[in-house]
Amino acid sequence: VLDIRKLYGQAGVFTYDPGFTSTASCDSTITYIDGDKGELWYRGYPIEQLADQSHYLEVCYLLLYGELPSAEQLADFESRVTRHTMVHEQMHNFFRGFRRDAHPMATMVGVVGAMSAFYHDSTDISDPWQREVASIRLIAKLPTIAAMAYKYSIGQPFVYPNNELDYASNFLNMCFSVPAEKYNVDPALAKAMDRIFTLHADHEQNASTSTVRLAGSSGANPFACIAAGIACLWGPAHGGANQACLEMLRQIGSVENIPEYIARAKDKDDPFRLMGFGHRVYKNFDPRAKVMKESADEVLDLLGIHDNPTLQVAKELEKIALEDDYFVSKKLYPNVDFYSGIILEAMGFPTSMFTPIFALSRTVGWISQWKEMIGDPQNKIGRPRQLYVGSEKRDYVSVGQR
Ligand code: ACO
Repeated sequence: VLDIRKLYGQAGVFTYDPGFTSTASCDSTITYIDGDKGELWYRGYPIEQLADQSHYLEVCYLLLYGELPSAEQLADFESRVTRHTMVHEQMHNFFRGFRRDAHPMATMVGVVGAMSAFYHDSTDISDPWQREVASIRLIAKLPTIAAMAYKYSIGQPFVYPNNELDYASNFLNMCFSVPAEKYNVDPALAKAMDRIFTLHADHEQNASTSTVRLAGSSGANPFACIAAGIACLWGPAHGGANQACLEMLRQIGSVENIPEYIARAKDKDDPFRLMGFGHRVYKNFDPRAKVMKESADEVLDLLGIHDNPTLQVAKELEKIALEDDYFVSKKLYPNVDFYSGIILEAMGFPTSMFTPIFALSRTVGWISQWKEMIGDPQNKIGRPRQLYVGSEKRDYVSVGQR
């Protein structure tokens, strides 16, 4: 805390907190994290119970409306989401404007932002009905958009949503089926996919959620806010870590190379970090990583993958890092991104799809946080201050005299 009278001659105090390591930007009833105990709750329910006993659309309802739904409320919610899975036909043309080899995250930032143009009848945030429709549209259409971004990037035709399928199976079908071949979604893989969605659904005021709130605080429409969140999520220190982590595991290549990479991660002159390790809030373990690890073992067993070199490197790296003084003393444990990439790769997704899958899962959390903020009478535009460390006041000198 600085006394700004000394700095600027004004009254009052001023907090300087780069990276917001100890500043709460809002109060919220949605998600609770205890970083020391390694606990995560959505609306009071522990993540382990939700991952085990619930499913993603029920979790979406819980995050959006605050309580678990009755059977009737759930059926109604599922039917509303299912009826909105199609995207406007003109969006197909919009996709075609992107370079074919564009990263799916680049396409998603653009397409989700463009939803404000395609669905402008749900951009008036003063109307509760429009807010509700926009929320349902985003939850329903994000899997379709992510799958389209993938299909476009590999040059295959788009696959329309199949509303007979559940949310996760529909996403897998849109990604992996091809018109001329029969493709049946494996229910066990769909369950693992659904669990990945649930584990990523919300995580209080992380960088992308704070971005959504900050964008929304100016009154921007929800599609624009979610596009801003997707852009922020893309960075390798945040959601992009799942792609970066798997690429790192491949680069390490074999178990014998691990010590070299551990040494690099400890070397302060080397910018290299072990991707998938460490977390701003969890200083014990990431509870999502525990569930994700179990899921990874199940999926690999199911697919009969036991001698995959990437997996061997991951398992050995985890073991070595968890026993290493540097990682132990800095409380650097594997985070959710360490294991999610292993599952997604085993399912057949390329690394470029890892972060889009994170984005579609997190959309419900972003919307829930945005709705909470919009409904808060205390809400005002977010406007951080700065600590000016530039030049003193000085007079302009014309170019000939410099
Ligand atoms: N490998 C090696 N050293 C690390 C790592 C790592 N992955 N993470 C942190 N450290 C070290 C830092 O060098 C620093 O050391 P110092 O105290 O000697 O300077 C110390 O641990 C603290 O690190 P900070 O960067 O200050 O921690 P912060 O809370 O700001 O960062 C973050 C958290 C960004 C997640 C960081 O741990 C990281 O970069 N991890 C790798 C990327 C990653 O996996 N991100 C996913 C996060 S989870 C998510 O977004 C879903």
